[in-house]
Amino acid sequence: MDSNQTLPQIDIPRDMIHFGIGQPSNHLLPIKELERAADHCLSKENSFFLAYGESKGNANFRKTLSGFLTGYYPNPVDPEQLLITSGNSQALDFICTQFTSPGDTVLVEEPSYFLALKIFADHKLNLVGIPVDDDGIVTDVLKEKLETLKPSFLYTIPTYHNPASVTQSFKRRQELVEICAQKNLLVVADEVYHFLNYSDDPPPPMGNWIDTCPLISLGSFSKILAPGLRLGWMHTNIDLIKKMAKSGLLDSGGGFNPFTSEIVNSVISLGFLDTHIQRLKKVYRQRIKSFCDQLRMHLPEQAEFKVPTGGYFVWVKLSDGIDTNSFRKAANEQNVNFYPGTFFSHEKRLKNYMRLSFAFYDEDVLAEGARRLGKVILENFS
Ligand SMILES: Cc1ncc(COP(=O)(O)O)c(C=O)c1O
Repeated sequence: MDSNQTLPQIDIPRDMIHFGIGQPSNHLLPIKELERAADHCLSKENSFFLAYGESKGNANFRKTLSGFLTGYYPNPVDPEQLLITSGNSQALDFICTQFTSPGDTVLVEEPSYFLALKIFADHKLNLVGIPVDDDGIVTDVLKEKLETLKPSFLYTIPTYHNPASVTQSFKRRQELVEICAQKNLLVVADEVYHFLNYSDDPPPPMGNWIDTCPLISLGSFSKILAPGLRLGWMHTNIDLIKKMAKSGLLDSGGGFNPFTSEIVNSVISLGFLDTHIQRLKKVYRQRIKSFCDQLRMHLPEQAEFKVPTGGYFVWVKLSDGIDTNSFRKAANEQNVNFYPGTFFSHEKRLKNYMRLSFAFYDEDVLAEGARRLGKVILENFS
């Protein structure tokens, strides 16, 4: 059992199983494919990608990426609708810079991705939560909030939500877009898990509606290739692309990541990305099944969770009396860790929830982690 894959950037004690880690296992990072892709692009005579790039991002890559997205999405994606980013975190920070001022209100889901909440806090934004149910963001509550609020944008994670693992239904997507079109409210859809479905295809990405309401769909290579690449994209209408491309940052530095873009351009052109996504889905599908079986076996009967149909996370609701912050402290003593529900609530609610990622560890380590969690609950909370 290898629970000690090297993670130099995260300070995790040896033997600790940390269910907070939201990245692929080391053995799922495609080093050989990237080596071949780098050789492929560096052996070309042309070195344009070592110069400052076009503000919207490497044009060669935007064309290849549009072809890739068109293959997965129900509608064609035009390269002019894409702006290359350094991943979704950077894109969120950039959007805050472009579209908000300190003190502005931003609508977030409750729960939401805890590090997006941190980025919004960096920009001194005032957050208002909209609940999420099994069909995604609750549009009736959104409508009500918009009667009095004038937010700068709404942040949503429509597909295989982090942490709740739910997917916004097609109907909800349409309602959301209708409401936001009427109010001229910018929707920022973080679609980082869109390609990682383990059963049926998800509904169309929010990028489908970029001409219906102000909407930016964010995509990233972090979960489908490697987070260290720091590469992603915005998919939005051409007017918004033009506006963002005029920013001081892009004017001064040129487009984001032209060199990495060229390498990933080769990854896609050589056919490695499609194959890699299929491989990830196969591994994760199997992991989810065995991990959820183990959780059912070791967690108390009252623990509630749905078997994820995509993404990275199992979102577990424990009995009301269990505060997962205290549970986490006790769990640390037994060499197991996770992120408690309060991390994902801008108001520090959801005390009896925990998020467990199955992306990093293999089945045997996940099983041992589930056993440790069960033991801690049994010894401390029953
Ligand atoms: C919802 C969500 N958005 C963004 C990110 C970070 O994306 P990136 O690596 O592209 O910055 C993550 C990673 O866990 C995530 O879960």
